[in-house]
Amino acid sequence: MKKRYTLEQKKWDSPAEHAMPEHTRVPASVTIGTVRIAPATVLAPMAGVTDTVFRRFIKNASQFAAPAAEPGASGLDSETWDRTTPNVETETTNQQSGCGLIMTEFTSADGLSRMRESKRKRYLTYYEDEHPISAQLFGSNPVTLAESALVCQDAGFDIVDLNLGCPAKRVVACNGGSGLLRDLPRIREIFERVRATISIPFTVKFRMGWNDTNIVCVELAKMAEDCGLNAVALHARTREQGYAGDARWEWIAAVKDAVTIPVIGNGDIRTPEDAAAMIEATRCDAVMIGRAAPANPWIFRQIAQYTATGAYIKPTDMDRYRMIRDYFERLMHEVAEHPEVHGPADDDLSKRLKRNHESAQRDAIGRMKQFASWFTHGVPGGATLRRAIFDAKRGAQVIDLVEAFFTQRDRIAEHDTPLEHDAELEAAPAAWG
Ligand SMILES: Cc1cc2nc3c(=O)[nH]c(=O)nc-3n(C[C@H](O)[C@H](O)[C@H](O)COP(=O)(O)O)c2cc1C
Repeated sequence: MKKRYTLEQKKWDSPAEHAMPEHTRVPASVTIGTVRIAPATVLAPMAGVTDTVFRRFIKNASQFAAPAAEPGASGLDSETWDRTTPNVETETTNQQSGCGLIMTEFTSADGLSRMRESKRKRYLTYYEDEHPISAQLFGSNPVTLAESALVCQDAGFDIVDLNLGCPAKRVVACNGGSGLLRDLPRIREIFERVRATISIPFTVKFRMGWNDTNIVCVELAKMAEDCGLNAVALHARTREQGYAGDARWEWIAAVKDAVTIPVIGNGDIRTPEDAAAMIEATRCDAVMIGRAAPANPWIFRQIAQYTATGAYIKPTDMDRYRMIRDYFERLMHEVAEHPEVHGPADDDLSKRLKRNHESAQRDAIGRMKQFASWFTHGVPGGATLRRAIFDAKRGAQVIDLVEAFFTQRDRIAEHDTPLEHDAELEAAPAAWG
């Protein structure tokens, strides 16, 4: 069976707690080639997570309008926050969002170059309100990578990113992702070929190296700059490290010292404090956040709020409820794009429509379960909700369960017992704030 690249495998070991640095904040913007990213925050690409529904959900959850508060105020109550901030259902624009850049899940360049036009479109779907958006590719063949980069440019993406960090065996086996970190001459060929083919900004996201005896991030960043790439993003771990131990931010600082193009720091940011601490420790130009986003979808808003006011809001139970309902309704909206076929499906078209509907339902349910695992962790009564969701077969049923959960939460919490697989999630991040 194909092993899924799941959030559950990628938990924090024992994350360092950071205090908010006194003077350092996440920068208001960073410019990558011709594209201005404001604020300087990036939602990390996450396979199986950051599809268009999740990306738009995060952008929306990141909406930020600076409340009238004194910088340095120790906290704002929820009522103040509600009065000054649009709620999650409101239309968003990039100017208001605390998330400056979003990225697609990684896409195989070989696959993309072989795909029919109609299938490509599905893979590269994004909506206008997702700009600026970066398309991430992986592969090891300079020619197909360049062809696919051009497809992304033609599809209207603002940036193309090359993945040199993925540790998944099936990606490394064909020399993609972090597998390439052992072959710098090949990377140079790819950089040059892609750079010569597209005119939009081109960036690369990598790990420090294959292992501790092969740390190449500084050399790689210099090569990227030399080949005309417009920014680099470093997940400060080696391939062999997987997700173990702490991200070694000192290597982000070393990369920043070595190049003049923008450096995006990535690894272990869970709170606004962590984000500012990374900027202070490394002087990187922007921060990239992955696993914290599904656990705390407000993280980008909290960073923006902290930058503007010196304080940030921790969500209430009602906020949590609105958030989970919002995401699930967005997923169901996607399912509705593939209408249900009633009655017998006996011709080819009805059979295809039926298959599409069933696959959209399955996908939505899968994502709901995954999101529920992370999002309800640490919430009183959360295990009961997770169990009910894990047994559900249809999306609408899940939405009803969530609704019921938040109206009867106090009663449910008294009888809450952990799920078998809860132990696995034990090390997941604190879900809130
Ligand atoms: C479920 C999952 C899927 C991921 N998929 C990708 C991917 O497609 N491309 C990529 O460059 N990194 C991928 N990553 C790595 C993240 O982008 C990020 O570098 C890593 O999680 C460290 O950042 P964090 O500590 O903020 O989570 C993935 C991580 C997770 C947890």
